[in-house]
Amino acid sequence: MASAFAPGKCILFGEHAVVYGHPAVAVAIDQGVRASITESLEWKLEGMPFDPSRHPHITHIIQSVFHYDGPPLTLDVQSGLFSAAGMGSSAALSNAVGAALHSHLNADEPLDSVKLAKLAHSAEATAQKGRASPTDTATSALGGCVVISGEHVEGTRHVFDTSLVTPEGRREWSINVVDLSPRVREAWLVMGYTGVGSPTGRMVAKVAKLLSESPERSEDMEDISRITRAGLTALSAGNLEALGMAMDACHERLQRLRVSNPLLDRLVVAARPHSMGAKLTGAGGGGCMVALTEDPQRVAEAIEVAGGRPLVSRLGAKGVRVV
Ligand code: MEV
Repeated sequence: MASAFAPGKCILFGEHAVVYGHPAVAVAIDQGVRASITESLEWKLEGMPFDPSRHPHITHIIQSVFHYDGPPLTLDVQSGLFSAAGMGSSAALSNAVGAALHSHLNADEPLDSVKLAKLAHSAEATAQKGRASPTDTATSALGGCVVISGEHVEGTRHVFDTSLVTPEGRREWSINVVDLSPRVREAWLVMGYTGVGSPTGRMVAKVAKLLSESPERSEDMEDISRITRAGLTALSAGNLEALGMAMDACHERLQRLRVSNPLLDRLVVAARPHSMGAKLTGAGGGGCMVALTEDPQRVAEAIEVAGGRPLVSRLGAKGVRVV
């Protein structure tokens, strides 16, 4: 049997804007997806017959990426992430399945996390009708703190470049990493799940429609880009207060892009008194918010009282690995 674990991610800044080439900053979180693969007599997923049409990410990895034509496989998947919730569960799934399959087929070859990030991004793009940034897949593959941008961002270490032809044209991204300061590593993220799943593809399409109908909304994208750069400076300097303020400002711009909703806003408001900052994270429309705090217990309680499901993590977990 071959098994691999890939972490989920939390976007601190730049969701949606990154689809249009602006920078985004994401960290890998402690929770993730574990995938195990064994050869068997028939194709199975979680003990049930495997239906490729219902699992586009897994199917893309097995068929289009690995061109697998060996004996049937049994796949088991355990996830510690809420799905369609902005935690990068589909990216973690693609990375974990890709890493487990790599280990099953080439046990002696070390895992190439950059290659895996690219493969998982192509799976994500296929499942999201061609509109997907490499944010989730790169963060889950590389771990730590990842900066995705249309161009190199000062103060970051370049890892690789990638591109995609989207319905709005060809996009190119530079994938970079930053080292987190000890002060940031000692802080906590508390993510609050609204209990409502929200498919990323639908929210990305909603923003694309808003921008084509109201081109002036691209000002919000520019603002998010500016806030992201300020957040990155705060992150590198270990300035948690400035980091939190930038998160609050980012939430306001995401509200203007109409990707927040009353459930998300309620959890954000509940978390703020005990946090340095709070915002929705990921695609919005449901899914999760995130708060940066030194008192995770208190924030988790506040989120629960406001009707959300909390999940606590440090910032910058390790990336995909064979386990
Ligand atoms: C989803 O986690 C983040 C979005 O920016 C979409 C993407 O980057 O592909 C909304």
